[in-house]
Amino acid sequence: MSLSIENVADTIRQTKADLQDKQDTLSQAYVDMTASIQAEVDEIKALKAQGKSIIPELDYQDVIHNRVNEEQKNLIRKRGCVVIRNTFPAAQAQEWSERIGAYLTDNGYYDTPDKGIDKYFSSLQAGKPQIFSVYWSKPQMEARQSENLAQARRFLNRLWTYQGSDGVAVFDPDRECTYADRTRRREPGDNSLGLKPHIDGGSVERWVERKGFWGVYRHLLAGNWQNYDPFDAAYRTETEEIPSPAVCSMFRTYQGWTALSPQGPGDGTLQLVPIARAMGWMYLRALQPDVPEDDLCAAIAGRALLCSPQWHSLLLEALTSIPQMHPGDSIWWHPDVIHAVEDEHKGKGYSNVIYIGAAPYCEKNVKYLAKQAQAFTKGESAPDFAAEHYELDYKNRATIADLSELGKKQMGLMPW
Ligand SMILES: [Fe+2]
Repeated sequence: MSLSIENVADTIRQTKADLQDKQDTLSQAYVDMTASIQAEVDEIKALKAQGKSIIPELDYQDVIHNRVNEEQKNLIRKRGCVVIRNTFPAAQAQEWSERIGAYLTDNGYYDTPDKGIDKYFSSLQAGKPQIFSVYWSKPQMEARQSENLAQARRFLNRLWTYQGSDGVAVFDPDRECTYADRTRRREPGDNSLGLKPHIDGGSVERWVERKGFWGVYRHLLAGNWQNYDPFDAAYRTETEEIPSPAVCSMFRTYQGWTALSPQGPGDGTLQLVPIARAMGWMYLRALQPDVPEDDLCAAIAGRALLCSPQWHSLLLEALTSIPQMHPGDSIWWHPDVIHAVEDEHKGKGYSNVIYIGAAPYCEKNVKYLAKQAQAFTKGESAPDFAAEHYELDYKNRATIADLSELGKKQMGLMPW
């Protein structure tokens, strides 16, 4: 569902006015949660100083053979992210990388002027493209519909509490919906792609949309910050977003990508604030009396929600580069986890990825599939993204004939 707001400042003011009688509770919750988050930031800084790993890592074979223990699962829930090593054989990932490169070159992507209509990050510099608005290359489709990712996502979805309070499942962890996203190919020396620490999936609406988001953050709004569990799926499929290119309107249990080339710290790759509850703290932060009444710590409707040095410096201290990734490794992070892309690629090789997260089967996602399937058959950009439609006449684009039975189900083109 999409949310339309006529006057954002007025809506924020009204929301805060309606919460006024809870101000003392919200302020106490903020003070207490700040201490708890501070302890977590300190723990991350101490581990960093000792050279220890912070982002949990699993091997794909352990995932599929049920060899991940509760302690490991709880660490993923706490940090809100995980690397799954060897999700695909390295040779497979490298082959995909080469074929995507050929798909872009053969179809003249580099010769087409930047259409300049993707405004999600207003600060991105112009230059040679590093993120490519192609959705339907065959390697992307092959990766999305692979059994390897189906298995990985079954495991990851099950880290969520997916039974709602009424006992009805919010989503089905074993069935996946395809969310067609783009691909990154970042060349060495590029300094145009840096993305500031941010959260996707909604900004202002998290505070002002009451049907879904007030449910998601219900414990915080009641001052019971200890009960806030980012992995509780209740209400998460009922949220309504302000429509905007690149704001995800599906319910994702994780954002993620699969590495197609080696890349590590310094190679212009991903950084995370590995604290799953961070969004909860930002939520309370914006409701404190020192924030102007028509402002939510600089959240802008229809844009990425920025983690700002002015308001959220506590969290920025925990910003952590992901470990060295090898072709075929995948990384997953909770949709509320703050992430960034390093300003400059100082490494020697291309850092290439296919963006593939997890969007389990639920009514909200099935609705999106219908729109997406139309875009797929026509070769248009996926419906959540800027309508650039680069691939309309591309040769070698994936068609329905390239979909496996699982792929068709995941695309909503065959019943489960
Ligand atoms: Fe993002």
